[in-house]
Amino acid sequence: MKIPFSPPYIDGSVIQEVTDTLNSGWITTGPKVKALEEEIQKLVETECVVCVNSWTSGAIMALRWLGLNADDEVIVPAYTYCATALAVLWAGGKPVMVDSGADFNISVEAVRKAITSKTKAIIPVDFAGYPCDYSALMNLVDEPQIKDLYKPESEVQKKIGRIMVISDEAHSLGANYNGARRPDIIIYSLHAVKNITTAEGGAVCLNLPKPFNNNQLYADFRLLTLNCQTKDAFSKSTAGGWRYDIVGQGMKINMADINAAIGLAQIRQYDKLLTERRRIFESYIRAFSKYDWAVLPPVKTDGRETSYHIFALRIKGITEQQRDKIIEEVAKKEVVVNVHFIPLPLLSFFKNMGFDINNYPQAYNSYCSEISLPVYPQLDDEKVNFVIKSVVEAYKTVVGE
Ligand SMILES: Cc1ncc(COP(=O)(O)O)c(C=O)c1O
Repeated sequence: MKIPFSPPYIDGSVIQEVTDTLNSGWITTGPKVKALEEEIQKLVETECVVCVNSWTSGAIMALRWLGLNADDEVIVPAYTYCATALAVLWAGGKPVMVDSGADFNISVEAVRKAITSKTKAIIPVDFAGYPCDYSALMNLVDEPQIKDLYKPESEVQKKIGRIMVISDEAHSLGANYNGARRPDIIIYSLHAVKNITTAEGGAVCLNLPKPFNNNQLYADFRLLTLNCQTKDAFSKSTAGGWRYDIVGQGMKINMADINAAIGLAQIRQYDKLLTERRRIFESYIRAFSKYDWAVLPPVKTDGRETSYHIFALRIKGITEQQRDKIIEEVAKKEVVVNVHFIPLPLLSFFKNMGFDINNYPQAYNSYCSEISLPVYPQLDDEKVNFVIKSVVEAYKTVVGE
């Protein structure tokens, strides 16, 4: 039985919404992007949302706006996708990597130890869609001795008066976080494999404290996504509306309506789609909790609930080679599983920068024993059972009974 890892959810309503955009005569940034921003704003309960063409470009924009010098440090987990650290480099700063905790997410204690007078931001990552402990991180950056260390240089840094927290929630649209405090900026990915997709895309949610005005920031960020051109294509296309100015060094990272249409049709039925994802998680939990070799991922604890994006199964006591063999066995059944993530210090580019995996033992141990199982609404019970059976049999073949 062929089981792909994460095909997009394309039903009649998605096709209808995209067709509607094509028939409308307007395919780039316009009403569909605005409607998607409003849907995300409602779901996330944030003040303002700016849709862009990827998580990566949204993060680069936010960090450029924060203003980084070459020796300014941004703390990121070693256990993440490359984009988290690459965004820091593209914005002109220096990524500082720290280890994760047993729940896969960045360790708050490791963050504390990594803070220096050069730290300007922290980018925690919600691994597989399970929220980080944001209250702990926000309280940390507000501690008087941490604030004393802080040396703001740019106008934005002076205005916030402490280390900024920009969360990498690439996986976690639809997750729940009931903690008292939330990050300053939240960025979601709407890439093709995500719970809600626009093929490629990202959503930057502005949640900055006073004296920032998030509505004004929305307008500033929107401008930044459009080359800092004072008129977007929509208003420029009106009769006589041709003249514009360029008021800054913007980027060209806007989302197009044709892309937004896909996500719009999906997010309008997100309750149903999330219920289906939860069903698959529950089946995996029921099945694997019978085996003492299986370590289940965090799902719902301490006022936090995953977005049910990736089921990150870990297998006790196996080596990296055994994990790879298990994946090979599963692949023989035509079931596609994955690994999240290859820790950055194991990748050539970051290794060559001097990052050493020995400094990130928890990330390495989690990575060695991790297998991500497929989760998507189209996966019916028969397919879910086939995935479970394939993994259990592969474990027995590679490790024994
Ligand atoms: C944790 C994490 N951060 C950032 C990204 C980058 O997202 P995008 O492809 O939308 O730039 C991804 C992509 O999968 C990711 O997994």
